[in-house]
Amino acid sequence: MTAFESRPARIALTRRSLLAGGAALTAAQTLPGALAFAAAPPAAGLEATPLTAGRARAHLLEPGAPETELWGFGGSVPGPVLRVRQGEELAILLQNDLEQPTAVHWHGIRIDNAMDGVVGLTQEAIAPGTSFEYRFTPPDAGTFWYHSHNRSWEQMARGLYGLLIVEEPDAPEVDRELLLVADDWRLDEIGAIHEESLGSLRDASHAGRLGNVLTLNSKDFLEESIAPGERLRLRLCNTANARILALEFTGHRPWTIAVDGQPVTPRPLDGPLTLAPGQRADLILDGTGEPGSRHAILAHTGGQTLEIGALNYAQEPRRDAADLGPVPALPPSKIPTPRLEGAREIRLVMEGGAMGRMQSARLGEEELAIRDLVERGYAWSFNGIAGRPTDPWVSARQGETLVAEIVNETAWPHVIHTHGHHFLTLEADGSLPADPVWRDGVLLEREETKKIAFVADNPGRWLIHCHMLEHQAAGMVTWFEVT
Ligand code: C2O
Ligand code: CU
Repeated sequence: MTAFESRPARIALTRRSLLAGGAALTAAQTLPGALAFAAAPPAAGLEATPLTAGRARAHLLEPGAPETELWGFGGSVPGPVLRVRQGEELAILLQNDLEQPTAVHWHGIRIDNAMDGVVGLTQEAIAPGTSFEYRFTPPDAGTFWYHSHNRSWEQMARGLYGLLIVEEPDAPEVDRELLLVADDWRLDEIGAIHEESLGSLRDASHAGRLGNVLTLNSKDFLEESIAPGERLRLRLCNTANARILALEFTGHRPWTIAVDGQPVTPRPLDGPLTLAPGQRADLILDGTGEPGSRHAILAHTGGQTLEIGALNYAQEPRRDAADLGPVPALPPSKIPTPRLEGAREIRLVMEGGAMGRMQSARLGEEELAIRDLVERGYAWSFNGIAGRPTDPWVSARQGETLVAEIVNETAWPHVIHTHGHHFLTLEADGSLPADPVWRDGVLLEREETKKIAFVADNPGRWLIHCHMLEHQAAGMVTWFEVT
């Protein structure tokens, strides 16, 4: 048993990279053609719960250090945990008390398109001082999250996100749930959000906005107690703008029971759990430690290992850990399995970024050289197009299976997120995985290619983008249509 000292989870960041801000990125790009959006559905049944986007503050640094002024939902960061039972309607009246327009995306929910929160594609931005009613019934149980989807590179860097939990009708029995939201923050010397570098094109063309302070649940070091023999369900979410994290619960061997809000066959973790921005996992962690022992929670990231929290064992056992039964499986996912035969094959080729080979890309009607793209705040392209195009990447008939080959021709990792749909990652030989893992975000390492497959069964206009938010803002975004 190792005793770990608690110390602030500071990430080394050179002064140069902190201060080298570049040209500001353009704000959320809107489609050239005017789009008509359906009016909010008439309020049916239950009254909407008010939720405000506005100012918030949190103590992100070590005890004694100043608080940080943030933006948050419901005055807190993370925002309030929204819980709904599977099959029940969620109704939220979003009030915008910010000084800039916003919109809320319900990440991972196979949602009604009009409620998806994408400015310029599914709704108009919610102007300061106005409100918008979100109303939908999540089809799947699991760990999801909600976040700003307007200027998300700024609004999420300032804290506009929270967890959305959809409960299974018969959830597996555990003693307690532990929600763990991991984020990194770029703070200046006095603990304030480093504003000068918001929208830095240097960040956008490299790894994105990486912070210098890492937190769990907005705490610089999370102390959690656990009883010997206790069974916990952990719900983990990486809400960072761009940082890939690998989390480790030392002294324990948790089992994964869900990934990106969808159940998987329970499997033990053989090493740290990698979560790219936007990704989630549900783990079962059994209290197998000794009474009074202490075990670090580690984050491996960017070549460093940081202690970001600890599990502290009580003296009094809950039960004999040996009496804990096998790890329970969640009820299986309801997502239709794609049929690869006769599927439509498409490609998504990512180019650009620092040390990339991209020479030019289309922006609107023009083909621009890399120099001119950068001048307008773009550094990346999907299939030769920078930013969200007027025409969809693909237009699918409802029920059609799409097999997309995603090709990372850049020197950087990216996490590709689909709206309204989860997908399977195919095996190297192009076959369906024997043991399916449904995801709404897939990580591709530099120069890596993966094939994903899904049934385009949710009608509407759906965004697909890199969830490294600066990459999204600097070009890595397109959309597909299901009619
Ligand atoms: Cu969580 Cu379009 O993203
Ligand atoms: Cu990216």
